[in-house]
Amino acid sequence: MENKTTLEYIVSLAKRRGFIYPGSEIYGGLSGFYDYGPLGVALKRNIIDAWLKFFVDGWDDMYQVDSAILMSRKVWEASGHASGFNDPLVECSNCHSRLRDEHIQGNKCPVCGQSGTLGEPKQFNMMLKTFLGPTSTGEETSNLITDVDKKLGPDSDGLVAKNRFEYQAEDLTYLRPETAQGMFVNYKNVLDCFYPDLPFGMAQIGKAFRNEISPRDFLFRLREMEQMEVEYFVAPEQWEEKFEHWRKDMLEYFKYIVLPGGMIHQLEMPENERAHYSAKTIDFEFDYPFGRKELAGLAYRTDYDLKKHQEASGKSMEYKPKGGGQGFIPHVIEPSIGIERTVLALLSAAYTEDEVNGEKRTYLKLLSNIAPVKVAVSPLLQNKAELVEKATEVYDMLKKEIKDVMWDDNGNIGKRYRRQDEIGTPYFVTIDFQTIDDNTITIRNRDTTEQERVKTPDLLIKLQDREYLTS
Ligand code: GAP
Repeated sequence: MENKTTLEYIVSLAKRRGFIYPGSEIYGGLSGFYDYGPLGVALKRNIIDAWLKFFVDGWDDMYQVDSAILMSRKVWEASGHASGFNDPLVECSNCHSRLRDEHIQGNKCPVCGQSGTLGEPKQFNMMLKTFLGPTSTGEETSNLITDVDKKLGPDSDGLVAKNRFEYQAEDLTYLRPETAQGMFVNYKNVLDCFYPDLPFGMAQIGKAFRNEISPRDFLFRLREMEQMEVEYFVAPEQWEEKFEHWRKDMLEYFKYIVLPGGMIHQLEMPENERAHYSAKTIDFEFDYPFGRKELAGLAYRTDYDLKKHQEASGKSMEYKPKGGGQGFIPHVIEPSIGIERTVLALLSAAYTEDEVNGEKRTYLKLLSNIAPVKVAVSPLLQNKAELVEKATEVYDMLKKEIKDVMWDDNGNIGKRYRRQDEIGTPYFVTIDFQTIDDNTITIRNRDTTEQERVKTPDLLIKLQDREYLTS
C-alpha cells in the first residue's frame, strides 16, 4: 500500500465513521481546525484516562490544575513567547503565498512554481492574538484591531516588528500556545496551599493554539490542539535522574496505549533546534504515514520560566526546604504530549487491511483499553421481536459492567461487521435463533473474524477475561 494513500484512507475512515470531522465543514472548512465526532471523543477520553492513570492518579506528589486559556499578556512577555515563539516565514512576490521556511527547497515557489520570487525569511510569531473587554465587541473591535494593525504596519498579522510592543492596546492578549504557563503562574499557589516536598509535579490537560503558517497532514499540524503536560519541579542536582525517569515513563505510556515500540524513536534535539526555554529536549518521533515526525517531547526547562516570572511579577518563586537551608528556584522537567498527534499515531498504527473470504477488509487493530467501543451487541434480524428482546437483555446486562458497549442493528450482518471492524470494536456479540433454543450466543473476534459460541450467562466473564480481551 502506498504510504501517501494510507493517510487519505485514515482521513476518510475518520470522517465516515464519526471520529474526526473537518472544522466548519459546511462552510468549506477552516485550515488547521478539526472537530471530534462521538467516536473521536471516546478515543480521546481513553487516551486521557490512560494519561491520568499513568501520570496523575498513582502519584502522591502530582497536582492537577485547570487554568484559564487566556492569561495576562504579561505572562507571554515574561515567558519569552511574545518575542521568541516564532517560525521563519517566506513570502512569494508572485502568488503572495506565505510559506514555512522549512518547506522550501531551492529558490522555486512550491505553490506557483516561479523561480526567484521568494523573499528573505522573516520571523512570524505563532501566538494567536485576541482582545478583551468592551472593545472586543461590535464595530469598536474592528476599529481597534485596525488601529493596532495600522500602527504595526506591514507586519500586522504576526510578523515581529522590532518595536511592535510599543503599540499594543491595553486589552490585547494571546490564546495560550502551551498549557505549561498556566502551571508556572500557579506554582506558588500550589506551594502555598499544599506544602509539597521536592520533587513534585503539576499536571494539566487543555487546549492550546498556534497560528501555524502551514497547517498540514490532517491532525499533525493544527492551529487548535490539546496538550497533556506535566511540569515536574526538582532540585537542580536531581534533573538528570528525573529526566531519565520521565523518558522511561513516557515510553511505558506509549506502550500501554499500544503504539508499537518499533514505530517510536527518540531524538535528542541539537541546541539550535530547541525551544528558547530548553537546555535539553528529547523528541519522541513516530513513523506517521507521511514520515517520521514529532509525537511528543520531553524538555529540561531549567529554572528558566519560574525565574522569568519572578523577575517580571516581582513575586518570589523560591522553594524553601522544610528542614531549613537556603531557598532556591526549582528546575523543571516537562513531558508534553499532544492529544491529536496521539490520535493520529493510534489511527495510523491500528489501520489494517486484509482479505476475508476473498474480499478486501479494513479494520482498526486497537486494543480494548483504547478502542472507543469494546463490544457491539446485535440481534441477527432487526424485525424478529424475540431476537431483539433477547439482544436488549444482553445489551443491558453488558452496559452495566462494561462502559463502551454499542447496539448495532443497522443493515445486514455483513455491513455491521464491516462497520464495527472499521471503528476497531474488538468483539461483536450476535443473538440468533439458536440463542432462543439453547441460550448461547456468538462472540466474533475482530482480528481473526472467528466466532466462538458461548453460554449467555458466561458472556461477561468471557469478555472480562484479560486474555480474551487482549487476544
Ligand atoms: N510546553 C511545551 C510545548 O508546548 P511543543 O513541543 O511545542 O512543547 C508539545 O509541543 C506537543 O504538542 C508536541 O510534541 C505535539 O504533540 C503537540 N503539538 C505542538 N504543536 C502542534 C500542532 N501545531 N498541532 C498539533 N499538535 C501540536
